[in-house]
Amino acid sequence: MTRSFTSEQFRQVLGQYPTGVVVVTAVIPDGQPIALTIGSFSSVSLEPPLVAFYPSIGSSTWPKIQAHGRFCINVLGAGQEALCRAFASKASDKFDGVTWRPSPGGSPIIEGAVAWIDCDLDDVQTLGDHFLVVGRVNALETASRDLPLLFFRGGYGRFLHSSLAASESALAGYLPVVEAVRSELESVADDCGTECNLAAHTRDEFIVLAGAGSQASPQSSAPTRVGRRLPYLAPIGTTLAAWGDESDIKRWAASIDREAGDGLTQWLDVLSLVRRRGYVIGRGETPYAAMEEAIDKRRDELADPTLLGALSEVRKTMLDQPSLDSAEETYDIRSLSVPIFLADGRVVQMGLYGLQADMSGEAVRFCAQRLLQAARRCTALLGGTLPEDFPRPTDSDGIDR
Ligand SMILES: Cc1cc2nc3c(=O)[nH]c(=O)nc-3n(C[C@H](O)[C@H](O)[C@H](O)COP(=O)(O)O)c2cc1C
Repeated sequence: MTRSFTSEQFRQVLGQYPTGVVVVTAVIPDGQPIALTIGSFSSVSLEPPLVAFYPSIGSSTWPKIQAHGRFCINVLGAGQEALCRAFASKASDKFDGVTWRPSPGGSPIIEGAVAWIDCDLDDVQTLGDHFLVVGRVNALETASRDLPLLFFRGGYGRFLHSSLAASESALAGYLPVVEAVRSELESVADDCGTECNLAAHTRDEFIVLAGAGSQASPQSSAPTRVGRRLPYLAPIGTTLAAWGDESDIKRWAASIDREAGDGLTQWLDVLSLVRRRGYVIGRGETPYAAMEEAIDKRRDELADPTLLGALSEVRKTMLDQPSLDSAEETYDIRSLSVPIFLADGRVVQMGLYGLQADMSGEAVRFCAQRLLQAARRCTALLGGTLPEDFPRPTDSDGIDR
């Protein structure tokens, strides 16, 4: 059969197939490290362990690696596009400025690579204008938990879990909500003297949509929490769970700290108390500080083990919602949140964050009442409906309604 396509079409159609990017490295006998960028890498066999790739017959680097007989495959991370380009060039010293250490076989492991696979050359065949190179694997390791670099339609990118991708489009739907409640958010932050955030959840994530007050201001040296994404797992988003979809609660409550017993029963009691009161209290300077540190240090993935550990400490304080009756007592309140009900039945939460560790009962009650008032105002503004039993702010706190 005669060919019915041009070279351009061949490239264009095959460009519809995404690949990862590896750099194949070796140190030749004169001690010089050499390498080339390869997209056509794949795993071939487990027993024996074989991998393969296809270097062009025009490559000047491949014949030197072939003569040496061993090499290391470096899987590039999503942040290593510049390295990918550098190793795809014809430069004489592609390793200029690159940090590396030797693999067990002596080939360069590039700093920041997601994984490396050390090989002996097993077989080389000529296929059209490329070689098929088969490597026998001697050693291999996942070197970092970063996401890999991807190459697709001539451009670079990174992997996005489909749940994350879904949440991107879900988030866009909240933009009008943010716009509508912004001035109330600012005024609550002002009245209570701390940061006030608006947050929502998707199936798997709790996402901070907007913020006002100290952390959110561009002048503040602390990074804004807006855009922060956390796993939607107890105790994150307790307010959303309390007034949210019942079918979500089981998954939300039972997902961490399984050894602590039946998470769901404990949570159902707390959630019903929270619904009667109208707000959720988070306490404890130490658990919150540990959670913040874990959030700062975590890697890309949502369920970072250190973060989950820190969350289970915050969870303990959440399960014990204090009564605010005592006039003398001080409270180490860290967060205080209320729900806002949207016209389509969804719930978002407005919350104060970073409150004083030694608040008087009076100050806590003031903030709680101010939030309850904001919940009513914002729900009305957005055309939502409050549950019939949603608490009314009391009149004794001097707030102008
Ligand atoms: C993302 C990407 C993937 C590549 N994949 C391959 C490949 O699979 N095979 C190949 O021969 N060249 C591939 N190249 C091109 C080579 O890296 C480049 O031609 C080579 O490094 C040229 O230098 P050399 O003469 O030192 O070998 C790729 C380049 C990029 C940017």
